[in-house]
Amino acid sequence: MDPSMTRNIGPNLVTPWLGLSLKHPVVASASPLCQTVTGVAQLAKAGAAAVILPSLFEEQLHHDAAAFEFLSSAGCDSSAESSSYFPSFPEFDRGPTDYLKLIRDARAAIDVPLIASLNGTTDSGWTDYAREIEKAGADALELNVYGLPVDEDQNARMVEDRYVSIVKQVTQSIRIPVSVKMNPYFSSPMEMADRLIEAGASGLVLFNRFYQPDFDLEKMEVVPSLQLSSPSEIRLPLLWLSVLFGRTSGSLAASTGVETSSEVIKYLLAGADVVMTTSALLRHGPEHLRTLTDGLTQWMTQRGYESVGQMRGAMSLRNARNPSAFVRANYMKTLASYQHPFV
Ligand SMILES: Cc1cc2nc3c(=O)[nH]c(=O)nc-3n(C[C@H](O)[C@H](O)[C@H](O)COP(=O)(O)O)c2cc1C
Repeated sequence: MDPSMTRNIGPNLVTPWLGLSLKHPVVASASPLCQTVTGVAQLAKAGAAAVILPSLFEEQLHHDAAAFEFLSSAGCDSSAESSSYFPSFPEFDRGPTDYLKLIRDARAAIDVPLIASLNGTTDSGWTDYAREIEKAGADALELNVYGLPVDEDQNARMVEDRYVSIVKQVTQSIRIPVSVKMNPYFSSPMEMADRLIEAGASGLVLFNRFYQPDFDLEKMEVVPSLQLSSPSEIRLPLLWLSVLFGRTSGSLAASTGVETSSEVIKYLLAGADVVMTTSALLRHGPEHLRTLTDGLTQWMTQRGYESVGQMRGAMSLRNARNPSAFVRANYMKTLASYQHPFV
């Protein structure tokens, strides 16, 4: 059903994104909350405008393909042995078959768009799975190209070209829209955004959140450290959304740091079409979606905004009353304005 038909009174929250029509701009991003059909259905019931499934990882696909090859050449009694040749990801032991089933079952269980996610770093074959994901019924695909360029032979252009090549391969093989979860660390995010859209992406997610490991000083070990985000982390995506608004033909999704409706509002004012949230839902549960959309509705009503479209980008670089606040002039002013107590 057209989401605008379900609107009662109050501002119009209907939001176009990736060629889809969402009932409002708050989307549940990839997380363990959406790794079962029940979890996806709960998020949809709690009011998510769209749900993004956790990623199918390149490593899972290579693992499966290699295991399959080994088994078909060596006989099926080698199963236990073969599995020890491959890195084990017990947390991600769901293979592509289960993932496709999750897409099919979740698609049937909810009436909002369902987005699948592929996560990899090379362009060696895993992108073929995009076709299977499309066939299974996903409404769109999010591509998360996650990898640190720690090889000194890889120069910046080679790294960028790899992103573009992956996006081209995927978008040329499927018809559903593809959104790229972008890395915030390109030298020229504007140029990369253009290149990704030219390569066929229908939209960009700003940004992918990299999980930097920590050092355990007791054990002298490098330890993985996953901390949920905080609202102070919205600043970087907020800045680049503000800059990109009106300057790209792709849809823009904001991701990272949403805790309250204030972050949702700020992201929309910067220029996001949709705003994604994971940490807040892990902290407060799926029902928190309602708190976010109610807060947005209330703010829009108080300010006299009739639609999300009307407020989108109102504080972007293009529309801000003080565009210099985004650029270098303000950098010096900001540093100089800091009052420290030690003089
Ligand atoms: C436990 C956990 C699992 C996640 N799994 C995925 C995943 O499978 N694929 C992905 O692209 N992002 C994944 N993310 C990242 C989130 O989708 C999101 O981009 C990130 O948490 C930033 O948003 P937030 O500040 O609202 O948490 C995961 C995050 C968390 C905390």
